[in-house]
Amino acid sequence: MKATAAGLFPSSVSDPPGRDAARVTTLMAAPFIADASMQAPRGTRDFGPEQMAARRDVEARLRRVFESYGYHEVQTPTFEHLELFTAKSGPGIVDELYAFEDKSDRELALRPELTAPVMRYYFDNLKMAPKPVKLFYVANCFRYDRPQAGRYREFWQMGCELIGDAGPVAVAELVAMGVGLVEAAGLTHRELRLGHLGILRAALHAQGVPADDQRALMRLIDKRDDDALRDALPDAADADALIRLFDAPGLDEVRDALGDADAGGALEEVEAVLANLEALGVRRDAVRVDAGIARGLDYYTGVVFEIDAPKLGAEKQLLGGGVYALADVFDEPPVETAGFALGFDRLLVALDEEGVPGFSVKGPDVYAVAFSEAAVPTILACAARLRAAGARVEVEPQTRAPGKALGRADQLGASFALMAGDRELADGVVAFKNLASGDQASVPPETVADRWAERA
Ligand code: HAM
Repeated sequence: MKATAAGLFPSSVSDPPGRDAARVTTLMAAPFIADASMQAPRGTRDFGPEQMAARRDVEARLRRVFESYGYHEVQTPTFEHLELFTAKSGPGIVDELYAFEDKSDRELALRPELTAPVMRYYFDNLKMAPKPVKLFYVANCFRYDRPQAGRYREFWQMGCELIGDAGPVAVAELVAMGVGLVEAAGLTHRELRLGHLGILRAALHAQGVPADDQRALMRLIDKRDDDALRDALPDAADADALIRLFDAPGLDEVRDALGDADAGGALEEVEAVLANLEALGVRRDAVRVDAGIARGLDYYTGVVFEIDAPKLGAEKQLLGGGVYALADVFDEPPVETAGFALGFDRLLVALDEEGVPGFSVKGPDVYAVAFSEAAVPTILACAARLRAAGARVEVEPQTRAPGKALGRADQLGASFALMAGDRELADGVVAFKNLASGDQASVPPETVADRWAERA
C-alpha cells in the first residue's frame, strides 16, 4: 500500500477510501510542509538579521522624535472587535480587512490601523486625564490589499494620536513632527502636502453635491481619478472648476478657485497652521497646499496632510493624517482629535531607493573558545563575567585548535578573542586578544571583565 502523508504518522488513523481520503489527509497535520507553505503568506515578509538591524536602528531614531514632542508610547491588541472598524466606514470595509469569527463566534478583525483602537483605549482609560493626551505607537497592521512594491498585507505603522486639542498650534506641531520623523530617518526627497476637508466639502457643495454623496466622491478625489469624478458629478457641476482647485499650487490660488464658496474658516485655519509651521522651522516653500487631499478613511473633518516620497511611484505616500472625529462611534461627547501614521515599510523602501547605506549585523564583542575539554569551564565562567560587564559574547560550543579558532573569530567579525587550553590552565591564565591591533595578553580568568572595561 502506498504511504499517504497522514499515514506516515505512526498513530494516525488509516485513510478512508475514495474522495474523503484526500480531505482527511489535508485536514490532518501532514508530517511535511507543502512547497507553497514554505513561503511566507502572500503580502507578508520575513525579516532577516540585517533587515532587523536596519529596522530597529531607524525605529529607535523615530521613537526619539515622538518623545521629543512629548508623546508616550501605547500598545493595543493585534485584533479587535470587527465593529470598531465598520462603525465609521460601514460594512463595505470588511472586504479590505482580515475579519474572522473566533471559536465563540465573536466577530473580530486584525487591526488595519490604530486610530480607532487608540481612541477606544483613550475612552476606556484616559478620558479624565489632563489634555492634550499625546500617544504614539509602533505596530503591525493588516489589510487585504493587492500586494505590490511598497504595499503589503502585513505592514508596520509608526503613528500618533493627539487628543484634546486640534487647533492651529497643536496641528502645526503634529505636522512638524511628521516632517521630523522623515528627516530623522535621513530621507532627503520628500513632499509635504497640506489641505483641509472644509475646503473640499465647500467646493463639492458649491457644485451641487449633497453632503451625503460626498463620501463616495472623496474616494475618487483621493485617488485623483478625474475621469471617474467627472462621471460621478451631477450634470450641472463644473468638473473643471474642481480640478482647477485640486491643481492650485498655493493658498491664494485655492482661494481664487473656490470663488464664492464658503469654506467656513478652513482657509484661515490652513493659513494659521502654515504660519506656525514656519515658526517651527518648516519653511513655506517646503509645504504644498493641496485642496485635493481627501484621505481614504472616513473620519477626517479638518486639516489633513500627507508626506510623499516622490521616487516611490504609485505607493509613494509615506505618511498621512489630519484632524478627525471618532467620539460618536463610542457614544462619547466630541473631543478634538488629530493624528497621523507613517508607513514604516515604505519609509525603508524610500531610504533604500535613495541609497541611504544599509546596516550590517554587528559581530560579537568577544569570541570565547576552549582549545581543550578541560578549559571549557574556565571559558564559560569568563563568558559569564564578560556578559555581566555588558559584553556581547559568542561562546564556541566545540573545542577548536588555535588556528581554526582565530579563523572563526575573524569570520564572525569579533573584536576580541578569549582563548584557553591546557597550557593556559596550567599557568592559571586565559589569553585575551584584541583582534584589531593583534595585541594579546595573558590574564587571570577573574580579571577578564576588568580587561574588557579597559579595552578603550
Ligand atoms: P493611512 O493613510 O491609511 O492612514 O495609512 C498611513 C500610512 O500607512 C500610509 O501613508 C502608508 O505609508 C502606510 N500604509 C497603508 N497601507 C499600507 C500597505 N498596505 N502596505 C504598506 N504601507 C501601508 C491611517 O492608517 C490613519 N490611521 C492615520 C491617522 C492616524 N490618522 C489620524 N491618526
